[in-house]
Amino acid sequence: MSEKKVNLAVAGATGAVGNQMIRCLEEADFPVRSVRFLASSRSVGRMLRFKGESIAVEELKEDSFKGMDIALFSAGGGTSEKYAPYAAKDGCVVVDNSSAWRMDPEVPLIVPEVNSHAIAQYKNKGIIANPNCSTIQMVVALEPIYKKFGIKRIVVSTYQAVSGTGKKAIDELFDQTRAMINFLDYESKVYPHPIAFNCLPHIDAFLENGYTKEEMKMANETRKILEDDTIGITATTVRVPVFYGHSESVNVETKAPVCAREVSALLEQAPGIKVVDDPKNNRYPLATDAAGQDLTLVGRIRDDDSIANGINMWIVADNIRKGAATNAVQIARVLVDEYL
Ligand code: A2P
Repeated sequence: MSEKKVNLAVAGATGAVGNQMIRCLEEADFPVRSVRFLASSRSVGRMLRFKGESIAVEELKEDSFKGMDIALFSAGGGTSEKYAPYAAKDGCVVVDNSSAWRMDPEVPLIVPEVNSHAIAQYKNKGIIANPNCSTIQMVVALEPIYKKFGIKRIVVSTYQAVSGTGKKAIDELFDQTRAMINFLDYESKVYPHPIAFNCLPHIDAFLENGYTKEEMKMANETRKILEDDTIGITATTVRVPVFYGHSESVNVETKAPVCAREVSALLEQAPGIKVVDDPKNNRYPLATDAAGQDLTLVGRIRDDDSIANGINMWIVADNIRKGAATNAVQIARVLVDEYL
């Protein structure tokens, strides 16, 4: 472990993920010399707590990163696209939670349990991308399977919490639920339809091919992280009325013969994973159990008898923690320990 201390900025510090980044930095006792919390001009004057101190939020500007070593960004794609290069120019390494840089061939896309070796590529542009929340938890569980059996094809359906959309969506689910059970009028502002008591097969914008951007992110990012363009991936992403924790039904077709028992044994040993798989006693991964902690929970591991080499799994993680903030802080930790 390094004794180094860094100057660290959080851009989007007042948002759902930014706030969790701050909590994760505290929990990890991250070696900071100083911190800087950045957001839009709307938040200037707000105070945020960090390690017992109150820190004033500053407006994110081109010169916010002078003297900073690392910046964790979670302020939307447009903000990252505009400001990450200013940070990099000032020698501050960006760990970006938006989708802006993920598929840039010069920017590494990192899940530390899976491809931490690729972090070295941050030197190309001074930027590291944090993958999409649904991708992160899936690849944590896929990597050990990929290494041992190879992967031919993945079919995934997601059940994603509203916190992935941000604070406004958390409020919308809460307000709509309260209104509906009291027979009051309600509005849908964040999503095109009511999210309370509903499932929306629509996350991010629709593309020409009929998939949503979220679905294509899962396919493209998984191939980039596993460094294998030959894997076939088809995704259906669904927003459900859950506050925290994404759940995923994942069907994997491997290259080599595989069985559920072997996969369970493999995942029991894998970093960042907790196998929760005792269906006889009603024990399987739940969003309510995943929320508030950092492990990816895997259960319902069973053979897919409809194909030669197939496995089904149910994968659940806290989308704001491992799906975003925790993963970013883990990347920053490797940066401090091994590169800066
Ligand atoms: P602010 O609170 O000042 O609007 P969420 O994803 O939960 O909605 O949070 C988005 C985060 O990104 C917030 O911290 C928000 O700050 C910040 N943000 C959004 N747009 C900008 C911008 N143009 N410049 C700086 N920060 C921004």
